Amino acid sequence: MSLKNIALCCFALGAVAVASGQQSPPRQEQALVSRTSADAWWKHAVIYEVYPRSFQDSDGDGKGDIKGIESRLDYLKSLGVDAIWITPMYPSPQVDFGYDIADYEAIDPQYGTMGDFDALLKTAKAHGIRVIMDIVLNHTSDQHPWFKESASSKTNPKRDWYIWRDGKDGSYPNNWQSWFGHSAWTPDKTTGQYYYHYFYTQQPDLNWRNPEVRKAMYGVMKFWLDKGIAGFRMDAVSRLFEDPGLHDDPYLPGYNAFGDRNIQHKYTDDLPETHVVFQELRKLADSYPSHPVLIAEADEPTIADLAKMYGTHGDEVQLPMDFQIADLNELSAPKFRKLFQEVETNPADGWPEYFFSNHDQVRQWERYGDGKHNLEIAKLMAVLEMTPRGTPQMYYGEEIGMRTTEPTRKEDVRDPIGITGWPKEKGRDGERTPMQWTPAAPNAGFTTPTATPWLPVPPNARTINVETELADPNSLLNFYKGLLKLRHTETALMFGDYKTLNPDDADVFSFERKVPQGGQGRNIVVAMNMSAAVHTVKFDDVGAKGGVVMQSNYSASGSKVDLGGLELPPFGAVVVAVE
Ligand code: GLC
Repeated sequence: MSLKNIALCCFALGAVAVASGQQSPPRQEQALVSRTSADAWWKHAVIYEVYPRSFQDSDGDGKGDIKGIESRLDYLKSLGVDAIWITPMYPSPQVDFGYDIADYEAIDPQYGTMGDFDALLKTAKAHGIRVIMDIVLNHTSDQHPWFKESASSKTNPKRDWYIWRDGKDGSYPNNWQSWFGHSAWTPDKTTGQYYYHYFYTQQPDLNWRNPEVRKAMYGVMKFWLDKGIAGFRMDAVSRLFEDPGLHDDPYLPGYNAFGDRNIQHKYTDDLPETHVVFQELRKLADSYPSHPVLIAEADEPTIADLAKMYGTHGDEVQLPMDFQIADLNELSAPKFRKLFQEVETNPADGWPEYFFSNHDQVRQWERYGDGKHNLEIAKLMAVLEMTPRGTPQMYYGEEIGMRTTEPTRKEDVRDPIGITGWPKEKGRDGERTPMQWTPAAPNAGFTTPTATPWLPVPPNARTINVETELADPNSLLNFYKGLLKLRHTETALMFGDYKTLNPDDADVFSFERKVPQGGQGRNIVVAMNMSAAVHTVKFDDVGAKGGVVMQSNYSASGSKVDLGGLELPPFGAVVVAVE
């Protein structure tokens, strides 16, 4: 048993004993319980991503804000969310809707004031909900005073805070491309040099080789941690460093949606220096007794690359987001099985973190739906998200089955990549439409009735909304609530091991979650039929013939099932307590 499992096992015993009102564990065990429960909080949390611009508007300007988020904490609590990750709310010209930061230690007036933020933290704490901030370390806005200084002259003390280079042969310094299209270099008239930006022109990259930059950014993080936030989701962190030799990236076949030649970002992604920064960041986080979590945007090409982010000694990022899983745009039992197995057995023994939707990605409703069984599939995906070992991360609105509503005309597009890439790349507006709360008010309750929301509220909000779904026992929302409750009460789901079952099944993905040795509770079998055909599966390996349905998208909770021949309808998903 690894150290990790011993700690969890002891915590499980304590947690179960406390929850069931039994005698407390012995004193020595108690100490372990309180220590592990604090430092492992993020292992047992359900994280919910809030896109603040789109969640809830309180002042009628058509854009969500902090007071709006605060007013919805009761809802989040009743859903069972433990922590919210809020995408950037710092002052920003909003070219990339907050990912272009002009001041790291303030709140953009469109979202409210620092006083509002402090009040949110306090109310969230009272609800038992932690607040995770988004931090953009790779780049700032071109309107940040640091960049303005840096751009002002070649001799400015902040010149080296960004990446400035001379052009080559009358053109760009090299062939590096922006993730958002075209060259990653923009010429600057004042000094005649080019500056580098992995993303938009208005998002110049910081020079992480400069110790002053590191110091400044660690200072920013301390500023927020001192306020009592629970950690950071770190934006684009695999891109902190670039090859100082400026080697050209290798070309790949074909062209991208922006009409550029495809390239491999070999000299700008995942440079070894990044790990030194991760270690420094982790030291900073670990210096807080509240055990803040570091979550990395880790769109890594392989699980081996993702595993490196945990650090060789578990001393880097606690939760690299698993984009291997998130980017599988296909409902495939063998492929999901393989990916979950890979992260489960990752070489760093790191804790998995997975998700299916976020603010950069077409929502899961469309990505996995077949157009006919979408509700069943959405429930199946909820089972897949809430039952494996690891930390699940939800995206606002997925719990009600919000759809991706893309703009239909170029002139309506708000996300600049949709303008550059139209019509092949329509941008990310589709997955950022306002949260749908109620059928009873104009704008679905997202903003005041007469306001114009920053993106239109989809017409389907009349039927797809929180209020309507709360009243329907078979809704997706109530299905999620049930699953989140199971996650918080079943020892096997909180602390149990994960074991693949029927590894060769082409259509049904199933696994067992086992109560750790000495713990109390029931073992759990999860089975998901990822096909449109009926399948009967046998579970010979679980040491029992029968079970009881805890939650399912086709059968009532409490029904008995035969594990020696379990019939699953098309896209049937079931969580079974083994008896
Ligand atoms: C990350 C964010 C994305 C943003 C980009 C640049 O990928 O998730 O929304 O546009 O970084 O900051």
